[in-house]
Amino acid sequence: MSMRLLARVSLAIGCGLTGMGWVAVGAAQSAAKPVRTEAAAKAGMPWMNRALDPDTRADLMIRQMTLDEKIQLVHGIGWGPLRPGAYVPPEDNGGAGFVPGIPRLGLPNLNLADSAVGVRMGAWDSRYATLLPSAIGMASSWDPGMGFLYGSVIGRELRQQGFNMSIGGGVDLIREPRNGRNFEYASEDPVLAGTMVGELAMGVQSNHVLGDIKHYVLNDQETGRNTFNAVMSRRTMQETDLLAFRIAIQMAHPAGVMCSYNRVNGDFACENQYTLTDVLKKQWGFQGFVLSDWEATHSTVKAALAGLDMEQPGDQYFGAPLKQAVQDGKVPMARLDDMVHRIVRSMIANGVVDDPPVRSVVDPFQGRDDAKKIEERSLVLLKNESGILPLNSEDATIAVIGGRADFGVLSGGGSAQVDAPGGRPGGSQWGTPVYFPSSPMRYLAQQAERLADCGALASTGRGASAVKISFDPGTDLAQAALTAARAKVAIVFVTQWMSEGMDRPTLSLPDNQDALVEAVARANPNTVVVLETGGPVTMPWSGKVKGIVEAWFPGIGGGQAIAAALYGRVNAWGKLPVTFPANEAQLPHPQVTGLTPETGNNGMNGGGHSQEAKSFTVDYNVEGMEVGYKWFQVKHETPLYPFGFGLSYTRFAYSGLNVAPGAGSVSFVVKNTGARAGDEIAEVYATLPGSSGEPFRRLVGFARVSLKAGESQTVTVPIRPLYLKVFSTEKNSWERLPGAYTLEVGGSSADLPLRTEVQLAAQ
Ligand code: BGC
Repeated sequence: MSMRLLARVSLAIGCGLTGMGWVAVGAAQSAAKPVRTEAAAKAGMPWMNRALDPDTRADLMIRQMTLDEKIQLVHGIGWGPLRPGAYVPPEDNGGAGFVPGIPRLGLPNLNLADSAVGVRMGAWDSRYATLLPSAIGMASSWDPGMGFLYGSVIGRELRQQGFNMSIGGGVDLIREPRNGRNFEYASEDPVLAGTMVGELAMGVQSNHVLGDIKHYVLNDQETGRNTFNAVMSRRTMQETDLLAFRIAIQMAHPAGVMCSYNRVNGDFACENQYTLTDVLKKQWGFQGFVLSDWEATHSTVKAALAGLDMEQPGDQYFGAPLKQAVQDGKVPMARLDDMVHRIVRSMIANGVVDDPPVRSVVDPFQGRDDAKKIEERSLVLLKNESGILPLNSEDATIAVIGGRADFGVLSGGGSAQVDAPGGRPGGSQWGTPVYFPSSPMRYLAQQAERLADCGALASTGRGASAVKISFDPGTDLAQAALTAARAKVAIVFVTQWMSEGMDRPTLSLPDNQDALVEAVARANPNTVVVLETGGPVTMPWSGKVKGIVEAWFPGIGGGQAIAAALYGRVNAWGKLPVTFPANEAQLPHPQVTGLTPETGNNGMNGGGHSQEAKSFTVDYNVEGMEVGYKWFQVKHETPLYPFGFGLSYTRFAYSGLNVAPGAGSVSFVVKNTGARAGDEIAEVYATLPGSSGEPFRRLVGFARVSLKAGESQTVTVPIRPLYLKVFSTEKNSWERLPGAYTLEVGGSSADLPLRTEVQLAAQ
């Protein structure tokens, strides 16, 4: 943004609003009185009448707007607090984006905050925000209630901090397991990803905060993200990546959908007529607005006509150039009105006009408890040989090794980074891993002492004093092995830091941590590994350790949740929302496209400049619809751990499969055959008739059930008709093909004890 524009904006929204008009803006963002909408409706603002529907109200308001006011609503004001030295208007609440409102019409400012895994930029203004477990962890719970809770924490804290729009809700498919942003996404499967992120966005919006779903679409890797051209057939897109977005969007009706940096079949995602208008707005009936990722707008007329409604963060294309284009008739006024309508109706529909946020104090305990609850259901037990877990009172000497487990837990980086309590003043630094003070070691010690006081050791009179927890940072392998050898049990914490703006070149754990695990496992036969990773990793040592737990990036309740799970205080394990390959050679893309030692994460030849306009193709037609577990099934590859897999401290048996007429639902009996209460995640898959050309099973439903020891329950899982259909490019619509459908049910994509075949008619 130029200095001239800066001055103009600052005059219009900064100093100019100190008179009558200021009241409404101040009311929206602070504890001052909100606009009295009933009174306002009577006093010549009929759009403030809550009895009218949001579309009518928006239209009434838009009729009063000048061209300049309309243009003001369709772009941000620049990088604001994100860039040192950039202009920050006084009403800016200190988030990633700001759009000034129109006080004379009672329209509040839009204050947008990044909030993929909790509210970002807290430290910028001395605030606190809860760090939730990573979104991939939330999806590992396969529990829609946890998705909703996750979003509610974000919505609650945004509101408490004075923000009225969330930027988060990542639902890009995990096609590329080395993608640096996988921790912000949910799954390789569109039904699981869409359902969980849809719940998340509903949770956000339940707090009268605008929700958002991103990054639309095919932003499935970070390498070269500003320029790469994702190539994919329309049928594949509809049945994979677009399906995840569709499910989430139609569940939650989010206010915003953020278009991504990359190109999709040639056109940039933010000026792509097919994805923005033909699919999102027309096929799916999306009523909200499309906002660009930060500097992902590349044109004025093309983008406006293709369906982009708001440029962020500045006004390079949608400021003066858009005004000119409207005046010249290159962009019809009706299209500008449509952009504005979408923004204003979303603000009204989500309550930010009638019930603006009132700042209050974030409750860190409530946040921590919610984060812990979600994490307990997100942890995945991958291996538990000879019942090494749960730890018992005999395991009183424990070596805790690596992962800074004496201090806390790792978090993901980039725009999803939440600032740690007591962290760097002013905020976290891009590119630097941040640990949160929730020490697994401290809580393991607490659990060990509690158990020792009440368990067998108590009768010996030794109790908690017998507990000895030692820590080794894991940097010197010989020293770590020595520490491990002295303990009954060794727990190794391994980490893989992930961030926006980077992909991992391989699936191996960085920093020689594979060798660390090997060294510890050699020294102590009772070794348990806890992984804090942003996605799948390879584990060459998996056969040599007794226990493996995937904790993802565990959030502020992580230390407590990990300790509670390892000690069996909870038995609420999740299951994998992604396949863990045995090695990269099994993947459709053995290397991340464009990522070489020469190019680095910007994917540019010559290690170049991120602005260099050089595009390369990422060919997603290689795997097409066979994303994740589907690829492994078709290629007859055995992964290290399959999609949907996860153990528990108890066991479950499946029986009695029944399919309702027309396959509208399936029911079956799940029995807890073990000795403890626990949760099972039951998964339902369908394989379509051969004429579909899709020779793999697809997830069509799931249910999470809690069962006491010995308890049985009949579980009914509805199957949405869409999930049994294929997309016909010819007809530009979905259809169910006639023929034999195989339905399978069980506790993992690779272990499905119930199976039946049904004949279904065309639909
Ligand atoms: C990210 C978005 C984020 C935006 C604003 C971009 O770099 O891709 O996810 O919302 O920045 O911080």
